[in-house]
Formats: sequence, structure tokens, C-alpha cells
Amino acid sequence: MSIPSKVKIVDVGPRDGLQNEKAPVPAAVKIELVHRLQDAGLTEIEVTSFVSPKWVPQMADAAEVMAGITRKPGVRYSVLTPNMKGFEAAVLSKPDEIVVFAAASEAFSQRNINCSIEESIERFRPVTEAALARGIRVRGAISCAVGCPYEGEVAPERVEMVARLLKSIGVQHMGVADTIGVGTPIKVQRAMEATLRHYDIEDVSGHFHDTYGQALGNTLICLQMGIWNYDTSSAGLGGCPYAKGATGNVATEDVVYMLQGMGIDTGIDLDKLIDAGKFISDYLDRKPNSRAATALLNKRLN
Ligand code: HMG
Ligand code: MG
Repeated sequence: MSIPSKVKIVDVGPRDGLQNEKAPVPAAVKIELVHRLQDAGLTEIEVTSFVSPKWVPQMADAAEVMAGITRKPGVRYSVLTPNMKGFEAAVLSKPDEIVVFAAASEAFSQRNINCSIEESIERFRPVTEAALARGIRVRGAISCAVGCPYEGEVAPERVEMVARLLKSIGVQHMGVADTIGVGTPIKVQRAMEATLRHYDIEDVSGHFHDTYGQALGNTLICLQMGIWNYDTSSAGLGGCPYAKGATGNVATEDVVYMLQGMGIDTGIDLDKLIDAGKFISDYLDRKPNSRAATALLNKRLN
């Protein structure tokens, strides 16, 4: 399989990136981040999640954020929906895509969404049916696809099982997530191969947290497999409240820099992307968690 000439990036910064922030980030700031990302050329943005505000207080303003976005034609806005209650709230905000999120680890499923893997599939079934009936795309995520904070290493067979179950209820696209960033290239390749038994290559994406600095290596091996969809987070923001110690997704800036260097088209303006990452980092009063952004921002000073 040859390396793809084009890559599609979903920036999950407004959702995965901000969900773990302790201090509330105003809806206006989240909306401005979305606007800056779309101005930078992102065509897929994971905006927010319709989850319980008791579980993830930072996402309590989901409806307000969705309502505040000035939508740009050609951009797909997605939101997480863990159950029918979340879906019913989400649908009012007219998402282009919803995301159902399962786990390859039983313990993580319990901690994250308070039910077993099997129960989660049964919750996602009506959500998926209702979304498809309304012409809303359904993406899935498999958390802990290589490692779990509670169970340790996760076998590819578990990933294969969850991919099969999500496919059987009609989920159209599958994100393979290294939630805690412990994966290394061959392990990630095995998790991808397990997913590819049920999904075509264009319907599989990589979602790599960069806790151990492995995310670019993991992205590269997936590119070599022909996978061309990736979730990344501007300024490397983020972490999951139910995965202690895990840091953010790989920075969008780092991935775009690598892809540009490889001659792979992303449609993203790296300079504007860096401005978007700087905007949110400035708001959070920290430096962007991206080596490429740091280097390019330093270069601007010279
Ligand atoms: P539960 O407590 O079992 O829910 O939570 P329940 O059905 O028993 O309901 C309890 C209360 O929650 C009720 O309210 C419901 O109405 C309310 P009360 O009567 O007590 O006032 N409720 C809701 N409220 C708002 N929106 C909803 C909703 N559902 C119920 N959708 C639940 C189950 C799934 C809701 C909860 O566990 C939850 O919200 N979990 C979300 C956790 C989360 O967002 N985690 C982070 C996202 S996943 C992630 O980051 C991983 C990913 O990036 C990939 C990767 O890296 O691995 C995707
Ligand atoms: Mg994540």
C-alpha cells in the first residue's frame, strides 16, 4: 500500500482538547476556536459533546456552542452523543455527524460511560438508527484500542470485537483511539488491522494521544498502511477526564507539518493553524503543546 497523497484531519480540539480543562472555558472562546480552525482550512471539526454535565462539566454549554458557530459551507461539524438523551439534545443543534464512543476495555467503558461494552452497543443502536434516519453521519470511536489505564495492554481481538459490533449496528466510520497514548507503531498497526477486518480503509481513522511522544510514529505507520483520516487537536490540547495522566491528542500543527514535509495535501494553512492554536493557548495561559508550533512561533520572532 502506498502512502496517501491526501489526508483528512478532524480537529477535535474544541471537544477532546477542552473537555478536561478544570476552569470553565466560555462558549465564546470555544466558538472563536472553531471559527479560527475553519478559517485555517479544517473541514472537519469535533465541536462538543452532549454528555452529562455532572460527568463532564466543561461540555455543559454544548448547545450554546453549536448555536454560536457561523457555519462555513463544506465544513462538517460533529458532536459526541453517548445515548438517546444526548442525541435528542444534539439533534436540535443540527450536527452534520454524531460520534458514538465505545471502548475495547471493559473497565474503561464502565468508568467513562457507566456501562459495559455490550450495554454501550445497545445504547448506540437506537442513536445510530435515529441519526441515519435523519441523514446524519455516524462515526464511532474505540477507546483504549492498545492500552487501558485500568486493564493495561489491550489485545487486537478486543478491538476487532468492538469494531464488528459497531459495524453491525450501522456505524459508518471507525476511529481507533489510543486514549492514553501508550501505543507504539506495531501495536497500533495491529489495532488498525483488527478494525480493517470490518471497515474499509477510507472509513478508518487514527486518534492518537501523545502522552509518550509516540503519536507521530503511530501516524506514520498508519500512513504506510494507506490510512488517510486522523483526529488531532490544535495546540495538542486535551485529555480524557476518565484516563488519568493521559495528555492531549497529537497536535494538529505537528501532524500538518509532517504531512506537508511529506508532500501530502491537507488543505490546511499551517500559519493560520498556528494562530488558532496560539489563540486558545493564550486564553489558557500556556504555551502550545506542539513542537512545530513552538518552532514556527520562535521563527516568527527572528
Ligand atoms: P449515567 O449516570 O449512567 O446516566 O451516565 P443515567 O442514564 O443513569 O442518567 C443519570 C442522569 O444523567 C440523569 O439526570 C440523566 O437525565 C442525565 P438526573 O435525573 O440525575 O438529573 N443524563 C444526561 N444529561 C445530559 N446529557 C446526556 C445524559 N445522559 C444522561 N447525554 C453517561 C451515563 C453516558 C450519560 C455519562 O457516563 C456520561 O456523560 N459520560 C460521558 C463521559 C465523557 O464524555 N467522556 C469523555 C469523552 S470520550 C473520550 O474522550 C474518548 C475519545 O476521545 C476517544 C479516545 O481518545 O479514547 C472519544
Ligand atoms: Mg480522545
